[in-house]
Order: sequence, then structure tokens, then C-alpha cells
Amino acid sequence: MPENNIYKIGISILDCDYLNLGQELTRIKESGADFIHLDIMDGNFVSQVAFGQKMVSHLVERAGIPVHIHLMIKNTDEQIESYVRPGPESITVHAETCIHLDKVLSTITGNNIRAGVALNPSTPISFAENVLDKINSILILTVNPGFGGQAFLESMPAKIRKTREMLRSYNEIENRKSIIDIRVDGGINSSTIMKAKNAGADTFIIGSSFFKSSDTVRFIKDLKDLINRNQAI
Ligand code: DX5
Ligand code: ZN
Repeated sequence: MPENNIYKIGISILDCDYLNLGQELTRIKESGADFIHLDIMDGNFVSQVAFGQKMVSHLVERAGIPVHIHLMIKNTDEQIESYVRPGPESITVHAETCIHLDKVLSTITGNNIRAGVALNPSTPISFAENVLDKINSILILTVNPGFGGQAFLESMPAKIRKTREMLRSYNEIENRKSIIDIRVDGGINSSTIMKAKNAGADTFIIGSSFFKSSDTVRFIKDLKDLINRNQAI
């Protein structure tokens, strides 16, 4: 079980129907998903461009479901304030882009926003090791970021296991009771979700497989039944 006993599912709207965004948001809320995951892309850290500060403000004010930001931008240090201002529930930054990661995370938490560190598939988990006191989650990218609809990387469960181990020993050595979620993002569907869960993930970000589903209520219910039924290995 996750340390706080709750598995969560968030929906990335990167692959939704942009011309019917209001209906898509309603579909997400009614599905029983726990939050919206908003991928912000600058065409620099990753090749695509998606969303921005204004979208964050509108969603925070009107979506009626918690909004989590996944910042895939190159100049995180310079831009973090502008993403903090709209007040999303959480902001996850890429360790690879932050020159002063500790400072960026302090800016987020100093504004009562939950902070997360995202790691590309090739980035070692040690990039998060010295900021564990500042974060509420580690986001393991299970695809190379930039696009929805890619295949889950089979090498990632081993990394998730290592991350779980790092968090366990951090709590043991420091005698802490910190709860840091392990989130996975990329290629999550009804078959890969169990690989991630069994390796120790407790929060699952889903994009294209949600929007491809014809019955999203059933889709989320089935996934939640699945992850709650099976014991972690
Ligand atoms: C990848 C993004 C993901 C993506 C997930 O760069 O961070 O959030 O939208 O989409 P799927 O589930 O289709 O991989
Ligand atoms: Zn994402």
C-alpha cells in the first residue's frame, strides 16, 4: 500500500479534444479521477508547446477538481513565480531544468503549494535525494516526455523500486514519517498500471488511454478496483 493508503489517478488533458474542453473537463470530473494533470511544454525542454499560465488560472478557478502542474520548460528558475501565482494544488518541476532546484522548490512550498520533482527516464533518482525534505512527490517519467500516446518503458519499474527503497531508507535513517508519493507518467493503461503499482508507485497519470475510452466512468472504476485489489509485491 502507499504510505498514506490511497492510490490516486490523475488525468493529463494533453490529448483531450481541445475544441470541446468544457465537456472534456466534465467527463474527467464525472469519471471519478482524482485530479487534472496539466502538462506545460515550452517547445524547448521538449519539442511541443502546450498550455501556459492563463490556462492554469482558468482551470484553478473553474475546473472544480484539483489541478496539478507538470512543468516541462527550460527556464524553470525564471518562470516559477508565474506558475505559483494562480495557486494550483501542486507543481512538479524537472530536476534536469532547475539550476537552483532547492530554491525553486522553496518558492513552491513557501506559497502553500505541494511540490514535486520529475525525473526523465535516464535521470538518476539521486537528483531528488537532497531535496526530499522539500517535496511531496517524485514523478517518474515512464516515457520520454513531450507527447502523449507513447509506450511505457519496461526499464522503469526497476527505477520505481529504487525510488521506493530510497524513500524507505530516508524515513528510517531520519526517523521521519514523511509521505512522498511516487507518481508515474507516460504509457499508463490497464496493463501497465499494475507493473508500476507492483514496483511501488501510488499515483498514476493517464492521458491517451483515458480519452480513447468510450466509458470513462467504467475505465476509472476498473483501474481503481484493479490497483486496490492486488497486493504490492
Ligand atoms: C508526457 C506527458 C504525459 C502525457 C501522458 O510528456 O508528461 O502527462 O500526456 O500521456 P499518455 O498517458 O498518453 O502517455
Ligand atoms: Zn505529464
